[in-house]
Order: sequence, then structure tokens, then C-alpha cells
Amino acid sequence: MPTPIIFDTDPGVDDAQAIAIALAHPDIELLGLTTTFGNVTIDVATHNALLLAELAGQSIPVAQGAAEPLVKPKNPPPGHIHGDNGLGNIALPEITTQALKQSAAQFIVDQVNARPGEVVLVAVGPLGNLAAALQLDPGLVDKVKRVVVMGGSIREGGNVTPVAEANIFNDPHAAAKVLQASWPLTLVGLDATHRCVLDPQSMARIVDAQGPLGKVLGESYAFYRQFYRQALGIDGCCPHDSCALVWLLRPDLFTVERGYLSVVTEGLAEGQTVMAPERREFVDTRWSQGAPAEVCLNADGPAVIEWIVDTLTTPPAR
Ligand code: BDR
Ligand code: CA
Repeated sequence: MPTPIIFDTDPGVDDAQAIAIALAHPDIELLGLTTTFGNVTIDVATHNALLLAELAGQSIPVAQGAAEPLVKPKNPPPGHIHGDNGLGNIALPEITTQALKQSAAQFIVDQVNARPGEVVLVAVGPLGNLAAALQLDPGLVDKVKRVVVMGGSIREGGNVTPVAEANIFNDPHAAAKVLQASWPLTLVGLDATHRCVLDPQSMARIVDAQGPLGKVLGESYAFYRQFYRQALGIDGCCPHDSCALVWLLRPDLFTVERGYLSVVTEGLAEGQTVMAPERREFVDTRWSQGAPAEVCLNADGPAVIEWIVDTLTTPPAR
């Protein structure tokens, strides 16, 4: 049976590729896309989610969510990384579909309650929608099958500050609520995603196989690639958000440790994620709140990339 997921996203070039995987993989039942500010404004995020589903020829519910962080002022969207339109500033076709009237948080609550114990929440943007869903229904912690978060960094260092990863930095207060809730959670952060580099040759294969959606994935990748060349000196892009789905279906490709997670919400280290390994004792219990999570600390990068390319180049079964 395919795993039912809700994909919470701020598309975003790497989000777009992950959405393509969620739309294509036979072992995933995509219940809906919920959108958040982050790489782009909330309206652009919702527009892109609708567009990507349309380009794949699929009718997928899209519910709009958080427009800003819970507490801190919103950072400007990183147009130099994803483009002002989130998809590398390429010309995009008009969309014909609309978002649901329901909020993202309400959509999450309703879907999980309709199928208790079955639904996996995969979140690859700032975490305001999951925090809001928890506030609407605190019992969600016992009703989701799992939460998979692309975000954070334990040993790798940050990508927007020396210590903070973008999704956590964009709303650290929401992240603190989500990462410390007592639900089964897996963190797929930079310790794993920076091991994975999608090279231009692999991307060309995906473009050829994905039709109209592939054209958008390929052209936006070209923009994103320039950022990686300048920022990290690599020829290719880290498919951060796709890694969350790879973990879901191929956890054997990751090295995981269990630990308690905390998020720094103020000061110089704002947005930093801290893991206290489950079996270690520290001077007091302040770093061991909530439930221990599964935290990805490494990944088999080439095997992850091979899985992504296989998924996006294998024709659907008839
Ligand atoms: C994360 O931040 C966003 O820019 C990407 O879409 C990804 O979710 C990587 O730090
Ligand atoms: Ca994202």
C-alpha cells in the first residue's frame, strides 16, 4: 500500500523537484500540498504548488498556510537562490486551478483525523503550518504516523548563518514547537543533504523524462546551480527537500542517531538545532525535552542521487 503523505512546502526550486517525486512515486499517495512562506511569499508558494501539480497533469488539493513567522519579523525571500518567482525567474504558464478555502493547518488536522495512524507529514519549509495544526489539535501527536522534517543541522554548520539552516532560521519558534512535540519525528538536515549533489548530467535525464514539468525543473535548476557554484564551489545542486522523501522510502541510505532536539530561538545562534544523544547524560535535563527523534547525520550521497534520478526517469506503470 502506498504511504499517504501531506507535503508541506515553500516552492522553491528543490521543493519543485521533491513535489515531482511525490507526484510520481507509486509508493506515495499524495493527499495534498500545504504551502508556507519561506523561499517565496505565501501567494507565490501557493501559485507554484498549483502550477507544479497542473504541469504533472494531476489534481491535488493545495491548502494555503503561514504567511509569516510566529514571533520574529519575516526575512525577505532569498530571490538570489530560488529567483523572485521561486522557480529561477523563468517564464511560467498561467494556472487554471485554485487553492482550497481551508487553511493548511485545518487541512492537516482533517486529513490526519480521517485516517488516524496512517498519514505522514513531510515538511520542507518553515514549520508554522505544523505548529498551527498542533495548536488546533494537540492530539495529532498520537494520530500521525510520522513527521519528516527537512531542516536543521547538527554537525554540518548552517547555510544561512554559521549555525542555522534556512527552514529553521525562518521560524525558529515554530520549529521549537514541532521538533519538541511528542510525535515520531525524523530530521533530515544539512548533515545528510550536503552529502548529496545532483549533477547537470543527471538533471538532463530528469528533464527529458518529465515532460512539461521537466522543462520547469530543468530551467529553474540552471538558476539554482549558479548559486551553488558561487556559494559552495560545486557543479550541481543539493536536492535538500527530495532527501526527506528519499528517507521515507529508503531509510537505509541514511545514518541515523536518536536524540532530543532543541532550537535556539533568540540571539546570535538563533535557528540553531541542537541534538542531545538519547543515551548521554548532561549537567541537567534542559537539552532532553520532548520525545527523542531520529536524526540523520549522514547519507550515501551517490545512492540518494541514483534513487532520485531513477524515480523521475522511470515511466509510470500502466
Ligand atoms: C531548505 O531551505 C530552502 O531554501 C530549501 O527549499 C530547503 O527546504 C534548505 O536549507
Ligand atoms: Ca523548501
